Formats: sequence, structure tokens, C-alpha cells
Amino acid sequence: MSGLEAMLLHYRLLEKIGEGGMGAVYKAFDTHLDRHVAIKVLPAEKTADLERRQRFVQEAKAASALRHPSIVVVHDIAEDRGVHFIVMEYVEGQTLDRLIGRKGIKLHETLGYAVQIADGLAKAHAAGIVHRDLKPTNIMVMPDGQVKILDFGLAKLVEDAEIPAHGPTRTFVEGERPRTEEGFVLGTAAYMSPEQAEGRKVDARTDIFSFGVVLYEMLTGQKAFHRETKVGTLAAILHDEPPPASRVNESLPADIEPILGRCLRKDPQRRWQSMSDLKVVLLDLKEDSESGKLRPPAAPAAEFEQVRLTFDLGLTALPAVSPDGNTLAYSSDRAGEKNSDIWGQRLDPISRKPTVDAVRLFQSRGQAFDLNIPAGNGALAVAKDKIVFYACETSGNIWVAKPKGR
Ligand SMILES: Nc1ncnc2c1ncn2[C@@H]1O[C@H](COP(=O)(O)OP(=O)(O)OP(=O)(O)O)[C@@H](O)[C@H]1O
Ligand SMILES: [Mg+2]
Repeated sequence: MSGLEAMLLHYRLLEKIGEGGMGAVYKAFDTHLDRHVAIKVLPAEKTADLERRQRFVQEAKAASALRHPSIVVVHDIAEDRGVHFIVMEYVEGQTLDRLIGRKGIKLHETLGYAVQIADGLAKAHAAGIVHRDLKPTNIMVMPDGQVKILDFGLAKLVEDAEIPAHGPTRTFVEGERPRTEEGFVLGTAAYMSPEQAEGRKVDARTDIFSFGVVLYEMLTGQKAFHRETKVGTLAAILHDEPPPASRVNESLPADIEPILGRCLRKDPQRRWQSMSDLKVVLLDLKEDSESGKLRPPAAPAAEFEQVRLTFDLGLTALPAVSPDGNTLAYSSDRAGEKNSDIWGQRLDPISRKPTVDAVRLFQSRGQAFDLNIPAGNGALAVAKDKIVFYACETSGNIWVAKPKGR
């Protein structure tokens, strides 16, 4: 489209800001209304077919009727000298894939974005529009945290196009509708629902699945189904379960699992059936997270057993442990002289129980109430195999905590 670079109708193209499977996106200036817009130029081969174009225009019209703060506004769908393009609100901000990076997004931010995305999708679904291509590059976040979903219904333009897998991989579509049209390779298959991967009919529940994949990635920084190849990715979508998000990111509350799990069910009948219900559940979770009500992650303490090592009436405290973990030293006033002396205790290397009676290693002389502290002590001592010796405040004695069964 050389020669058209500068102007499309009354829109002046300023710079290319991105390019996806569906054509290039430009920042442009609307010379009629004096404002910035974003223009998506549709690839010629996708718009050449009149019938398909009409279907697309219909879809774009429906999408442009959507009014919701989380949905990018479509201003116009137009054509200039054979070039078809969509004019939309220019969004200042970053796409979600940039924000996710390798570590994901903090829980409270994730939930804030998730609720906005779910709310926008719920509105679209109520109007009978399915996004079909929800993924982090189609979601932008503005500097004030406002979310904008891009490319609503655009994927319909590629419906009936070839399944997005390379090469001789038609096994996925065996028994499905024949796909003989000119190949079209979507940018990524990683967010597709199983029914999309199989080329079956899609409905709002497809967006719920893709939403789940995006949510998983925000929470963990990892793509739930991504594999080396597109074929592998599609197979994973159809057959694999991703590792639980709260295992990938141990700081996540367990309450997130059932919510995510219900987004990612292979069978649409077993998923959340509506985005608006899902939104309400996420909103509850967000509020619980803000008020600190969420259950903490499964407490590892439950897997430890605690054994009392000393049985003194006074104060026995400040455990220290030798580097080999076999000798425990602590401070104790058990000799009854109102002084704390340092005591040593040999421990069985396996059970960590005392083998012989404790011996006094250092005896205080001098003033009453002397507190002698074993070298290297803290309020607790940690042996190299993660066994913890600690002083118990209530009994004034030393305890050991060690993994169960040891
Ligand atoms: N309205 C907009 N305002 C600002 N930037 C936009 C807008 N629409 C798209 N972009 C930018 O252009 C990039 C490319 O968008 P595009 O939709 O072409 O690619 P994609 O989402 O990666 O792939 P696909 O074609 O499958 O949607 C986006 O990731 C975003 O950074
Ligand atoms: Mg896009």
C-alpha cells in the first residue's frame, strides 16, 4: 500500500505501533475531529472475499455498539482505495503481556484487572458478542489501571480459515469440517479453548476458557499450555492440566484454585457458564484479598512435629546448634543459682532427641541474674537439615521442630 502510507481517508498515519496476525496497527491523527486514533489495516487476503467481508462488517458494527469502560471504542470501519481498516480509540498504556513479564502480576492488581476484563466480557456476551481471541496482547492497561480489551470479534474474520497449526498436522481436524481455505496462522494458539483448537463451534464459554488462561498467566507469570510447537500447544490445550497456580506461585491463596479450575475445564458444560457469575466470584475474592480474609497458603507447619527437649521450671532459652547439628547449646538457670549457665546436650543425629543428660559447659560466677548466651545463638537455631530448635515462651523451655516421620 505504498502511496497510502501517509493518509487513509482523513486519517494521517503517524507511526506503526504493532503488527499481529491480523494486520498492522498505526497510531494516526483524525484530521476531522483533531484527535489521535489507532488504525488497524486489515490484510487484503482477508477482506477480498465479499461475503466474508460483510460478515466481518456486521460483527464490527455489533462490537462498535458496545459501550463499556473496559472495551476499546471502535469509531469507524472504512475503506480507502481498496484498503479496509478499523478506526478505534487510541489507548495510551501497555499491553498485558508486557506487564506480566516473567514473574506475573501481584495478586491484588491481577484481581483488579481480572474483574474489569470479566465485566467487559460479560457486557459483550449479554449483547451476543464473543471475543474469540482473548489474550494478553489484546488487553491493554492504561496508566491509571483502567483496562481496555482490543480486537473484539475480529477473530471472526478468520473463522473457517485453516486451523492454526503448521505443516502436516491435520490430525486435529480429522472428522471436523474440511479446511481448504488459504492458510491463516493465528499469532498464538496458547489461549485458544479446546473447542477452538478442534475447530468446533464456539460461544461465550470459549472466552471464559481463554480468560482463565490469561488469569493463570497473570498469577504465575507462566503460560498454562504453552509448548515448543503449535501442535504441542494445541495438544496440551486438549489433554493436559497445567500445574496448580498456587504451586507455581506459593504466595497465592488456595481459594484461587477452584475459580481458575472452573475456567479451564476442557468441557464447556463444566466451566463457569457465565462471565457475569465469574465476575462476581472474582469481585468477592478481590474484596477478601483486600480485607486480609483470604486463607493463607496451606501451612507447612502442619507437616512438622514439635518435641520438647527440656523440662525446667525456670528459664531455659536461646538455643544454638553446632555446625554438624549434633550438639545443642542453650542458656538455662536450672542449676538454681539465679544465674543462667550454658548447657550442652548431645543429640541423636537421626531423631534429634537427647542421647545423654545435658552437661553444664559454662558456669556463671558472680552476680545474680547473669545471662550467659551460647555463641551463635538466636531466639532459635536452625540445623543444616532445616530442623529448628526454639525456646518456647510459655514453658520457658527448648523445643525442636522437625519434619514429620524423621
Ligand atoms: N487501540 C489501540 N491503541 C493503542 N495501541 C494499540 C491499539 N490496538 C493495538 N495496539 C497495539 O498494537 C499491537 C498489535 O496489535 P495487533 O492486534 O495487531 O496484534 P496482536 O494482538 O499481537 O495479534 P492479533 O492480530 O492476533 O490480535 C498491540 O499489541 C498493541 O500494543
Ligand atoms: Mg490484537
